[in-house]
Amino acid sequence: MNAPAYPAPRPAVPGPDRGTFLRDVVEGLGYPQKTIPAKYFYDLEGSRLFDEITRLPEYYPTRTELSILRRYGTEVMAEVPAGSAVVEFGAGSTEKIRVLLEALPDVAAYVPVDVSGDFLEAQADALRADRPGLRVVPVVGDFTREMTLPPEVAGLPLLGFFPGSTIGNFEPATARSLLTRFRDLLGPGALLVLGVDLVKDDAVLNAAYDDAAGVTARFNLNLLARINRELGADFLLERFRHKAFFNRSRSRIEMHLESLSAQTVRIGDHVVQFAPGETIHTENSYKYTPARFEALASEAGWTVRRVLTDDGRRFAMFVLRA
Ligand code: TRP
Repeated sequence: MNAPAYPAPRPAVPGPDRGTFLRDVVEGLGYPQKTIPAKYFYDLEGSRLFDEITRLPEYYPTRTELSILRRYGTEVMAEVPAGSAVVEFGAGSTEKIRVLLEALPDVAAYVPVDVSGDFLEAQADALRADRPGLRVVPVVGDFTREMTLPPEVAGLPLLGFFPGSTIGNFEPATARSLLTRFRDLLGPGALLVLGVDLVKDDAVLNAAYDDAAGVTARFNLNLLARINRELGADFLLERFRHKAFFNRSRSRIEMHLESLSAQTVRIGDHVVQFAPGETIHTENSYKYTPARFEALASEAGWTVRRVLTDDGRRFAMFVLRA
């Protein structure tokens, strides 16, 4: 139904090639349930708005995950052998890895993997300056596709790091194959620390994706503004509204853009019709129970070592071993 969700937050990815962007948008808007791939959220403005989302009072995941890392970091990392290499998938900002590294004094190397090369280099330089002695080896690439580790980490014990509940932006079957891929890449004995958002009250979930200040709404609507800017479309932003809700039967937050009237939109030579109330599905964020996530991880060949949560059991950090 919806397009494959894309690993989320990353500032300032280089602009997509216009032809691919146009093709993806026109194709997605041609499905019975209209959709636009979530990776297009993250132009410069989208990345800035996402950053603002992570600091909203209603958006609990980022600060809860950081608090879990601060609270349990040292204890968990006692399992990590000295001289390990940490591989971070979709390294957005260095805030979380810095907290993890505080608990891991003897790490030999850090391998951030991201599609945005410029951004990776800037972050890598900052980290090298703060942690002389830490070998920082960025890998530019898409971890959802083929990926190899750099020769610098050959033979080192490996720790994968996948924070932010980005795993929740994939369909469960895709999440499972991604975890299998991580296991194959990291090898037997490797550890994986990942953040998973948990099922909870509708009100808390809904507010996290539909905040009072309207930042998430602006983030969602920016997708249409971006299509106007980059593809010369004529979406009227005031004729669409942000709609986010927890779909409990599918255990996911769905984000949509709802058409407020019957309308016609032009994107280049293409014409798209909207009925009143019709939506464009833009993102999913799956929520797990600890048991359901454990089942998914074990199907992918991982054993659960620890499940760390906050006092409100809003968010979990899983420590897995291959
Ligand atoms: N993975 C996080 C989440 O699902 C971050 C995220 C991805 C997000 N896309 C989003 C947050 C869209 C808000 C809106 O919560």
